[in-house]
Order: sequence, then C-alpha cells, then structure tokens
Amino acid sequence: MEIGVIGAGYVGLTTAACLAETGHNVFCADNNAEKLRALQAGQMPLFEPYLEDLARKNRDARRLRFGSTEEAVSACDTLFICVGTPLGEDGEVDVSAIEQVAQTISQTAHGYRLVIQKSTVPVGSCRPLHELLGKNRPAKNGHSALRWDIVANPEFLREGSAVQDFLHPDRIVVGAENPEAVESLKAIYRPIVQRDFVCPIHGARHEGEKPVPVVVADTQSAELIKHTANSFLAMKVSFINMVADLCEAVGGDIEKVVEGIGLDHRIGPSFLRPGIGFGGSCFPKDVQGFINVAEKFGCDFSLLKEVEKINTQRVGRFVAKVKEALGDLKEKKIGVWGLAFKPNTDDIRNSPAIAIVRRLLAEGAVVQAYDPQAMSKSRSDLPEVRYCRDAYEAATAAEALLVLTEWAEFRSADWDRLRGLMIQPLIIDGRNMCSTSEMASHGLNYIRPGKKPLIPREPVKI
Ligand code: UDX
Ligand code: UDX
Repeated sequence: MEIGVIGAGYVGLTTAACLAETGHNVFCADNNAEKLRALQAGQMPLFEPYLEDLARKNRDARRLRFGSTEEAVSACDTLFICVGTPLGEDGEVDVSAIEQVAQTISQTAHGYRLVIQKSTVPVGSCRPLHELLGKNRPAKNGHSALRWDIVANPEFLREGSAVQDFLHPDRIVVGAENPEAVESLKAIYRPIVQRDFVCPIHGARHEGEKPVPVVVADTQSAELIKHTANSFLAMKVSFINMVADLCEAVGGDIEKVVEGIGLDHRIGPSFLRPGIGFGGSCFPKDVQGFINVAEKFGCDFSLLKEVEKINTQRVGRFVAKVKEALGDLKEKKIGVWGLAFKPNTDDIRNSPAIAIVRRLLAEGAVVQAYDPQAMSKSRSDLPEVRYCRDAYEAATAAEALLVLTEWAEFRSADWDRLRGLMIQPLIIDGRNMCSTSEMASHGLNYIRPGKKPLIPREPVKI
C-alpha cells in the first residue's frame, strides 16, 4: 500500500525519502508546480545532507514518486501532512495550508483515510481538522462516505541532520484516540523502531541497539510535546546566551561554565552553545506559537516571553560589538562567513545571520559574504551584498571577518593565508567556532561570545 506525503519541504521530502528507504511505497505531493516539476525531473529544490541520494535511489527503485495533492489523496489511504505552518502577521500560527489539504481530502477521498499530522500545530488543532474532513461526508457518486482517523505525529527533525534524525530518532510520538490508528503508525515505523533496515548513512544495520521508544498519547498531549520540546530547547539557548553575557561582564569563561554544568547529568551539555541566537523555521515560530496558545487558555507563559526577548536582542548586541571594534561602519568593508540559520542547510528562514547583515548594510557597511549553500536563497533578500566564490574572497581587504554560521569548512580554514588577505586581522565570531589560543597562534585578533576578547587596545594594521 502506498503512503502519501503531502508537502515536499524539508520535513515532507525527508519523511517521504526515509519511509521509502525503509521499504514503503511513497507518493510525495506538493502544490508548488515549479517544485514538483523539479522533483519529477530528479532535481532537489533544497539542500539537506543525504537527501538527494536517498530520493534518487528510491525514485529509481520506483518506491518514491511525485505528483499533485489530489493524486496522492486518491491513491493513498495513509496521508502524512507535512505542509508549512508559518507564523501569520497576527502572531498566530497560520494553519491555512493544513486546512487546504483537509479540504482536498474531504472533496477527493472516499472510503477510509488515516490522516497523520506531522506539521507543527498549536494544541487542539485536530478538532477543527475533524470538522473540515467531515464537510463532504455523505457518500457521493456511488462511492462510500469518507471515514478517517487523525493521528498527531510531530516531527523532531533538525535541518542539517534530518535524515539521521528520521532514521534514528530519540523517540516517536503518536497521539491518537483510536488504538487501531496507533497500531497502523507502529506498523509504518516498525523498521525504524526495530532498527530493521540498512542505514544509508552508515551503510550498515543497527541491530543489537535498543528499539526506539514510542510514546503513545492523546492528540492534545502529542501536540503539546512538540511545542514543549522546542520551547525548552530554545529556553536553553537563551539561558546560556545570558550567562555568556555575564561571563563577558565579569571576566568568566563560558566554555568552562558549560563544561561545569554539562557534566551534571540532570542538565547535560547539549544546546548550550552561546552566540547570535536561535533562528530557523521552528524555534522562533514555536516559542511564539506556544506563548499564544498558553494565553488563549488563560496561562501567562511569561518565561517564554523572556526567552523570545533575549533572543531578539542577540542581533543588536552582536552588531554593537562590531561597532565597538570598528567604530563607524560607514563604507567599512566587512567579510561575512555564513548566512544560513545553522550549518549544513541552505535555509535562511529567520536566520540571525541575515538580520545582522541587514543591520550592517543599514549602518553603511560594505558587506561581502560567503556561505557554502545559502547564497542563492539570500540573493533576493539581500541584493546589496557582494557574494563571494569562497571563504577567502569574503575576507579579502576586509577590516573584520564575522563568523555567523559555523560551517565545518570555516573551522579548518588556512588562518595564515586569511590573515594575509585582510586589512586588519580581526575575527568577530558569533558562534564560538575556534579556540582563542589557536587564533592567537596565527596572529589573529579574536572576539567571541562569553570569553575574554583577544584584541590589543590598538588593532594592528598590516
Ligand atoms: C515543516 C512543517 O510543515 C512545519 O509545520 C514545521 O514547524 C517545520 O517544518 P518545512 O518542511 O520546513 O515545514 O516547510 P517548507 O520547506 O516550507 O515545506 C512545506 C511544503 O508544503 C512546500 O513545499 C509547499 O509548497 C508545500 N505545500 C504548502 C503544499 O504542498 N500544499 C499546501 O497547501 C501548502
Ligand atoms: C529544531 C528542533 O531541534 C527539531 O527537533 C525540530 O523540531 C525542528 O526544529 P532546527 O530548527 O532544524 O531543529 O535546528 P536546531 O539544531 O534545533 O537549531 C535551532 C537554532 O538554535 C539554530 O539557529 C541554532 O544555531 C541555534 N542553536 C542551537 C544555538 O544557538 N545554540 C545551541 O546550543 C543550539
């Protein structure tokens, strides 16, 4: 039986390719004609590690095909909804794409459909979905009436490691009212839960490892799990960003502080990297969405309002550091490494790097930038930037080099070559990518979050 995946974005394409890789026949749909044409022609509309190979391999094996939403709804009785749910202008999560899909299902399908909600939605979103699906309930043209179950099955895929996260999840959350629907989901995920597939990343089976835990819940709790997880992680990031500011004020070292708290197993070391703040299509939207949901139900989640406020201030704080180091930015040439909201993706949605570049341009700076994947998506947002062929060109004749996304290729740069290219050997790192001693050994001045800056009073001109 073919599984339908509606929405061929970062989440939908990963879901479709990984389900195909674990043995299912998958029909992936999108309503964007250009995207669909590209996919049908074997081209990838986005960059995500391993995804292109996986899509090609499964397309060639005829386990993965692409088409319209109507075709997917007609052909498949199991449908994953993976369309976007951005924040609307009113600050509410915009679920209109989901409503549109529900309408298509209600108008096109007959008989039974298992509707699996993977897009992130505010708690309580399954109820209106039931109403929409029920709109065309009566049997039509001699076909049986539409029957359905709705399952909330949130995604926890990090861009940049989405394939790894799909195939080797920490847990799978299944929220449903009908136990039979839960069993259907368990059957779909059985190869992943039992680790019964050859992993395309590692080229081997992961037998012998513990099965993946499946958390079965009611739909409301499943929806809450998603917003809670992302809001909690976002809170960790804002928390450590404030501690980094404090380190700078009192002369502490954020890396030591993180080491000191991270060894406490109740805290753990992850998601405690300070910097220019969290971005992407999920954290900013999910924190805001969670605040709104709480408010709607009479809970003032003021803690999350602070998380958001701290995050918003990161961009201004970083730009202030640049101005402190360079003075007036008018006509100053500044090199930028990284535009994506995090490494290993071409996604610039809510990227703090983009927000920083915009501020630099507004201050009159001349910005030359390089990102291994995100430049083509940045061009229309930031046409004033000079886009460079490589990391070194972005540093050439610059008065400062800003690290805004910590791509691995930046870490292994030839620092001596870089120093020779710059007007002034100054790196302002928004991502704590390098060690201060390494930068010192190459004669570079280095400013980074939560650490003492490595910079003489008068920056050396070479
Ligand atoms: C996903 C989830 O949908 C979102 O809820 C979650 O919070 C973040 O991740 P993502 O895959 O990153 O979104 O979004 P995007 O890359 O924009 O992909 C959504 C796709 O759905 C697009 O290709 C769009 O064309 C498609 N779409 C949208 C449809 O096929 N039908 C619609 O009605 C609307
Ligand atoms: C997130 C969730 O992690 C994932 O489970 C899913 O729900 C989708 O949303 P994603 O947005 O792709 O994934 O990236 P993530 O790795 O979570 O990073 C989010 C942002 O936080 C990035 O801008 C990243 O640079 C920033 N971040 C992360 C930090 O600034 N410090 C950290 O320690 C970790």
